[in-house]
Order: sequence, then C-alpha cells, then structure tokens
Amino acid sequence: MRVVETVADLRRLLAGAPRPVGFVPTMGYLHQGHMSLVARARSESATVVLSIFVNPTQFGPNEDLDRYPRDVPRDLRMSDEGGVDVVFAPGASEVYPRQHRTFVEVKGLQDRWEGASRPEHFRGVATVVTLLFRMLQPDRAYFGEKDYQQLQIVRRLTEDLRLDVEIVGCPTIREPDGLACSSRNVYLRPDERQRAPALHRALESAQKALHAGVRRGTMLRDVMTSVIEQTSGATLDYAAVVDPETLEPVESVDHEARALIAVHLGNLHLIDNAPLIPPHK
Ligand code: PAJ
Repeated sequence: MRVVETVADLRRLLAGAPRPVGFVPTMGYLHQGHMSLVARARSESATVVLSIFVNPTQFGPNEDLDRYPRDVPRDLRMSDEGGVDVVFAPGASEVYPRQHRTFVEVKGLQDRWEGASRPEHFRGVATVVTLLFRMLQPDRAYFGEKDYQQLQIVRRLTEDLRLDVEIVGCPTIREPDGLACSSRNVYLRPDERQRAPALHRALESAQKALHAGVRRGTMLRDVMTSVIEQTSGATLDYAAVVDPETLEPVESVDHEARALIAVHLGNLHLIDNAPLIPPHK
C-alpha cells in the first residue's frame, strides 16, 4: 500500500495504475461502514484508492472540525488490511491552495433535511467530492447509504457536471443493536449509546406500519416521531417520508420511498434512513 499527500504524487502513481480505479472518499477514523465500501471497491476494481481528509468546508463555525476524531496510523493499518492500494491523505492547503473561491452547489437537494440546520454543509461536501474526482479521475466511487442525502447530492452533481464517474451506493452497516456505525459514535456517553438504537427502531416501526397497510407519508412519519418521543434524552430534529431521488415528502407510499430521521442525543446529532417498499397488493 502506498500513502501519498500531494496531488502531484497521486497523479504520478495513478498514471500507470491498472483500471478500473475504485475510489472511497472518507474523513478517516475508519469503522466497519467504511470498510464495507473498501470491500465492495476491492471486489470490482484493479486499483483501490481511499482518501482521508477532514474537509473544513463542510463544517459550520460551531461544529466539531477541531474535535473530529482522528487516528491516521490506525486508519492506515485498516486500509492495508482491507486491500487498499493507495491512501491519499492531503493537508488542507493541498486541497484548497490559495484563497478558494469556487464552490459546487446542488440547488434544492442541499437545502432541506440535514441542510436546513447545516446551511453550508452540502456545499462543502459537493465541492470537495468534485475536487477529489478531478484529482483522482476514478472510474467508480463508493458512498454509503448511511448518508442518504449526501449520496443523492453526489449522484446529482456527477450527472449534472458530467464527471464520468460511476457512483455506487452501499448499504448501511450497523452495530448488533441496530445503531448505524459512525465515526462520531465514540462521543456517545454509555447511557446515550444505550438509547441510540431508537433511530433504527423508529425506521423499523415505519416499515412495519407500511406492511400493515399504512401508506400515508404523514402517518408513517408520525409512527417514527412517537418512537423518539418515548426515548428519554432524545429530541427529534426531523422525520420524513420522501421520494428516493428528489427527497421531497411523498403523500402516499405507492412506489419505493425513503424514510429519513435525525435526532439530537446529548451533544450529538444522529441520522439514519431506510427504504420503504410497499407490499404488493
Ligand atoms: P465519512 O463520514 O468518513 O464517510 C465516508 C463514507 O463512508 C461515506 O460515503 C459514508 O456514507 C460512508 N459510511 C459512513 N458510515 C457508514 C455506515 N454505517 N455504513 C455504510 N457506509 C457508511 O461522508 C463523509 O465522510 C464525507 O462527507 C466525504 C464524502 C468524505 C466528503 O468529505
């Protein structure tokens, strides 16, 4: 495995690398969710590149950029064991040299749900993903469904800017009790950690209600809301039943939809989502 920190070294290394090149962008502090993307990339690429970059432009002024968990030696060990060929771990000035003034925005998709409480977040994500794609020119890039809105935004910007990268969405990896793996889970206190599976339970309740015949989006949303209301210490940010591509709320789940949920637990903001597939009549 090679580790490079500059775009020049990355380009040199990838110039002669066998294709297809599969790319897994991350902010490091790797866990089983990240490793599932690596495994998928490994299974269908000749060269696997993983990036580790805690992207400053996707953090708001009062967010946890400085406190974001980091352990690069451990990330490198896990990457090596997972079969990564190249780790790209640039510094901030390598990705954003000089004064950066150009940003990528995905109108409509970026403003609601996670974007409502984090106004610049998806602009930062869309910009860094575009930059990383330009630097690496991968054939495929792997993203988790865990960050469902991010995945749809990346799909859309890739299409709109004709970036010629195939976006592969991968299922959410969970702890045994249903909590979605996340780098930030280390910040949960033991009592909060115990309550955190409520998000997954809420999503499962919506799926069960759908199978019992409830189709109205608002009713399925209320099913999720009530699970969170019964969880002490948790406050709901949003629960919604949306179109899987536009992320607009749907009135009735007659085709596949997506359930989204976001909750405050202690100082943490947890998100999760799940497909809602209506049963055949
Ligand atoms: P990060 O949070 O490190 O996540 C990197 C990738 O791992 C994302 O595609 C994310 O959806 C995926 N992932 C995280 N938890 C997962 C889980 N439990 N199951 C499956 N996949 C999971 O997302 C980012 O970094 C950044 O926004 C980035 C795209 C790298 C741009 O800076």
